[in-house]
Amino acid sequence: MTEMKTTGQQLGRRSWAEPWKIKMVEPLFMSTPEQRRAAMHEAGYNTFLLKSEDVYIDLLTDSGTSAMSDRQWAGMMLGDEAYAGSRNFYHLEAAVQQYYGYRYIVPTHQGRGAENLISQAAITRGQFVPGNMYFTTTRLHQELAGGIFVDVIIDEAHDPASLHPFKGNVDIGKVQSLIEREGAGNIAYISLAGTVNMAGGQPVSMANVRELRALCGQHGIRIYLDATRMVENAFFIQEREPGYADHSIAEIVKEFCGYTDGAWMSAKKDNLVNIGGWLAVNHEDVFERARNMVVVYEGLHTYGGMAGRDMEALAIGIEESMQDQHVRSRIGQVRYLGTLLEQWGIPMVKPVGGHAIFLDARAFYPHLAQSVFPGQTLAAELYLDSGVRSMERGVVSAGRDPETGDHRYPKLELTRLTIPRRVYTQSHMDVVAESVKAVYDRREETRGLRMVYEPQYLRFFQARFEPIE
Ligand code: F0G
Repeated sequence: MTEMKTTGQQLGRRSWAEPWKIKMVEPLFMSTPEQRRAAMHEAGYNTFLLKSEDVYIDLLTDSGTSAMSDRQWAGMMLGDEAYAGSRNFYHLEAAVQQYYGYRYIVPTHQGRGAENLISQAAITRGQFVPGNMYFTTTRLHQELAGGIFVDVIIDEAHDPASLHPFKGNVDIGKVQSLIEREGAGNIAYISLAGTVNMAGGQPVSMANVRELRALCGQHGIRIYLDATRMVENAFFIQEREPGYADHSIAEIVKEFCGYTDGAWMSAKKDNLVNIGGWLAVNHEDVFERARNMVVVYEGLHTYGGMAGRDMEALAIGIEESMQDQHVRSRIGQVRYLGTLLEQWGIPMVKPVGGHAIFLDARAFYPHLAQSVFPGQTLAAELYLDSGVRSMERGVVSAGRDPETGDHRYPKLELTRLTIPRRVYTQSHMDVVAESVKAVYDRREETRGLRMVYEPQYLRFFQARFEPIE
């Protein structure tokens, strides 16, 4: 029997295709069910502990997993591997200034290096750090610097079914009451992320950041942006926000960043490199502190843990990441997978966000309590079914409350299918969708997991589990 692919036309639109072609291929290992059972057992039912060689389609993360372009690879040959003052640093600095608009740049080895710098430079012990939902490494660095994270995202973000077009928005009223209750001086800064990873890759609107800027301006509170997926955020503004349809992605990113005082970046996402990051700020005081600290934690302030060649690839990646056709096809691929799953009634976070499909593991397994880790269970089941690797984003990721030591039970119990940029084809998406359906069809037989090993920090990376019989 010949199987028919679902074409764009059948989905009610014209087909699109990627604005690139493949120049080099990397063969994949296609495992048997027995091999996958053995590998999953050895990995303690944690997809972070699988060997990449045992994975068929790797949707663990979009972080550092993108394919670089021929121009980026050519740039790797232009690495100036000087300890100090590498020419590639100046290219990187110029690219960040041109596309994001910030004044001062400090390079770091990846996003969490920059998170450490900004947290240490801008938080005084005991201060509050309001943010539009936590991110694992971001909140940990804020807490290690003595900050107290406060979630100020709109309530809709915690509801997987809400179709709000900007579910990443800050609830301005929540920020206002925090200022009234604690005083502006007790707020370190606003930790604003575009898009919001843990909410499902959901965007923040331009109107929202403008309003936030006005409020913070009155109280002298700075706004720092997690710009990791800001390019994807700009796509949603272009598509959904009145007045932005004829603005380019680059214009939208620049305007949005203009309402903030600086940004930290995991360049492993939007910026299309396998390693790298940066911190960029407009105020000299914060810059001075961060630039001094970078030599302690990362490396000299003109390489920050990156090789010269890495910085060159990053400078070129920044420029490529801003191209409208690139962003359209990147998010188009995520949506294609979403549309396939939706037609089979698979529960997931809606609207589909920028970098991933977030399966709603609670609704997927309504018979499983959150204490048996439905999100983790679903990730394990998917791997066992097809060798597709995904990631838990639920109670395991949320960790424990530093005060009480109890599990933090987030409202969102999700399993993330994260799409690397420029790596997989539409056929890979078909295989993934069919595997999710197969796991869904036998959901009632699934029992859940028990945690048998738990590390102290960011436990989701290294925790181990056993199936409940
Ligand atoms: N901020 C966001 C929104 C992120 O998604 C990440 C990483 C970081 C900061 C930290 O950056 O990994 O370069 O140190 N997210 C990855 C993920 C790990 O899979 O979502 P990093």
